[in-house]
Amino acid sequence: MLQMIDVGVTVDGENGRKQILNNVNLKLEQNKIYVMTGPNGGGKSSIAKAIMGIFQPDSGQILLDGRDITGDSITERARLGIGYAFQAPARFKGIRVRDMLRLAAGGEEIDECQLLYDVGLCSQDYLDREINATFSGGELKRIEIATILARKLKVAVFDEPEAGIDLWSFQRLTETFEAMHSRYDTTIVIISHQERILKLADEVVMVAGGTIGEITTHEKFLGEISKIDSGCVCRNDCIKGGAANAQCDR
Ligand SMILES: Nc1ncnc2c1ncn2[C@@H]1O[C@H](COP(=O)(O)OP(=O)(O)OP(=O)(O)O)[C@@H](O)[C@H]1O
Ligand SMILES: [Mg+2]
Repeated sequence: MLQMIDVGVTVDGENGRKQILNNVNLKLEQNKIYVMTGPNGGGKSSIAKAIMGIFQPDSGQILLDGRDITGDSITERARLGIGYAFQAPARFKGIRVRDMLRLAAGGEEIDECQLLYDVGLCSQDYLDREINATFSGGELKRIEIATILARKLKVAVFDEPEAGIDLWSFQRLTETFEAMHSRYDTTIVIISHQERILKLADEVVMVAGGTIGEITTHEKFLGEISKIDSGCVCRNDCIKGGAANAQCDR
């Protein structure tokens, strides 16, 4: 289905060129749920952006059903059936929620009320509301997720769908992922730090240091989580004191 082979991504940062992904190898199969997890800044969103074409790899290849899509634009990849719900969604001003969902569905028959219900929003309150700065962060996030659910995608990537979403809607959302998984052949990638989401995974993909680490089952991952070394890695965002932090004093 979707394959990343030795993918590397370099971006122009404030302090010059910076490699944010290196040797990313990942093979995603149809109709499976993958949960990508790992430390902050590890490269999860960057992998999602490389899949979506927002980041162009400077090495390696990305294949969709055997076809090389490495050079394809975001629009082309969206047309091929790849969708990405951002960690922090943009605000689409001046468009009604109903139209936004229809636009996302691209002419496919959709049930707008069901889609809003799936993300825990009451359709009566939202369907005809125009999206603007008055929407809360959680509301925007849920509408963004609903636009991804509206599309018949081959690969759907959700970047921290739980972020900013209340506990009640979160429960609804996990049920929605389960339903999507059982109803469609979509490959679902969820970037998350939440145990409840991790439990949905057929495979848990660890991402750290700009590359893929272990790929395991959620049973094994959750069983071993207490053994993960939470010691400080010497970086700018180092929050613990001690020897590792001392090395940061350069
Ligand atoms: N456009 C960019 N310019 C410079 N650095 C970037 C850029 N995009 C990402 N990075 C850096 O790449 C690294 C990986 O970022 P990324 O957003 O992929 O992490 P993440 O695993 O999604 O983290 P989080 O769990 O905090 O969301 C970080 O160190 C980040 O600062
Ligand atoms: Mg991220």
